Amino acid sequence: MINLPDPELAESYLTVSVIGCGYLGAVHAASMAALGHTVIGLDVDQPKIDRLAQGRPPFYEPQLAELLSDGVGVGRLRFGTDPAEVRQARIHFLCVGTPQQQGSYAADLRHLDAAVDGLLPYLKPGDLVVGKSTVPVGTAARLRDRIHAVEPAAVLAWNPEFLREGHAVKDTLAPDRLVYGVPDDATGDVAVELLNRVYAKALANSTPVVITDYPTAELTKVAANAFLATKISFINAMADLCEAAGGDVVQLADAIGHDRRIGRRFLGAGLGFGGGCLPKDIRAFVARADELGAGSSVTFLREVDAINLRRRSLMTELAVEASGGSVAGRRIAILGAAFKPESDDIRDSPALDVAEQLTTLGARVVITDPQAVDNVARSHPRLSVTTSLDDAVDCADLVLLLTEWRQYVQLDPTVLRELVDRPVILDGRNALDPDRWRAAGWTYRGMGRR
Ligand code: UDX
Repeated sequence: MINLPDPELAESYLTVSVIGCGYLGAVHAASMAALGHTVIGLDVDQPKIDRLAQGRPPFYEPQLAELLSDGVGVGRLRFGTDPAEVRQARIHFLCVGTPQQQGSYAADLRHLDAAVDGLLPYLKPGDLVVGKSTVPVGTAARLRDRIHAVEPAAVLAWNPEFLREGHAVKDTLAPDRLVYGVPDDATGDVAVELLNRVYAKALANSTPVVITDYPTAELTKVAANAFLATKISFINAMADLCEAAGGDVVQLADAIGHDRRIGRRFLGAGLGFGGGCLPKDIRAFVARADELGAGSSVTFLREVDAINLRRRSLMTELAVEASGGSVAGRRIAILGAAFKPESDDIRDSPALDVAEQLTTLGARVVITDPQAVDNVARSHPRLSVTTSLDDAVDCADLVLLLTEWRQYVQLDPTVLRELVDRPVILDGRNALDPDRWRAAGWTYRGMGRR
């Protein structure tokens, strides 16, 4: 059991609704139930709701299956598609996705607006609506006005979520900070009091809380993601310099990471960032800053994005080089399809971009991944996938490590050598020990490493 409701906190328990049951909402709903609250999870996607109602996660996330089946089993967690069900709840979490708009950098807020539309007819005086989705600054004030036009005695708070996929349950149950964006009047105190009840367990463990206004809360989330993306692109730019000058970016990252003002985390050079958050969040930030007349202040984020995308074409170039100038007809095994380990999420996955580029160049690519193979087969029908690592590397001319799943990092290079035709590996995550692989007879190449 990951987390049991704490009897000492029983008085803080509430009935809450969670609107939108994707990565954010499904984890939030299951976690709120684990903390002791009664939860109604809502989504417009019937098959997804059916799975969740059976206590089965619609995607892979460590610990989520256990939390869901516990919550559903004890009756504290239910799922449905009828918005009228929110009537039973006093707090309503908005957890829908805010993807990138087609043909634009800006965020697409249609799902969020639809979620609020669905909620409005059922809002009661004293209800608290809590925005958790990542939004362009100014969205909360706009939604507050819409809510007050229908129910003036309801309150809106903005409480961004910082969870990482692969660690989402832990990050939700034990966040490293809480941010409450609340109105600057007495209703703000009501919002803080209710949010403190929601997060009573985290607060009992001394989690820091920043109580602020809407714009600061909204900006905090995008600023955090922009900073992380910048850190990754910075070290990838240093990787280019290391390549040009004969240095080693892993040692460089270790060396600058010892400076506590810099820190070693998120200085992993390689194929760069992907996923459903960092890429689209920095683009939406740039788009919103332009609208506010502050675009020049975040021009650097365009370069952060460009550096990141160049990593993918660089990996393709390295594969061509390692294949003697052409990948046409070459059998290339790709280890890892998810945008990061411990996830089956392939949204904006760097590994799949590389796989597509190499396929276009005529390579015979086979991809394997411990969790994401089904998703790849559905969304990238021209790519060959297999759940078997042995099948993926069988007779390969080249192996690419593109997502650093633990089982790939721990592979025995001597055993693997027996399966491939040519023992050549490109390490897109700088996750392998070059000496070990070279000692086993492999030609090893990292990104920005000697
Ligand atoms: C991110 C934020 O970390 C999280 O706080 C926010 O709520 C959502 O967006 P997530 O998308 O789950 O979370 O992934 P994250 O762990 O940040 O990794 C993003 C990408 O950066 C991955 O593709 C990862 O492989 C890459 N990355 C990460 C690097 O290339 N180098 C690093 O050093 C770290």
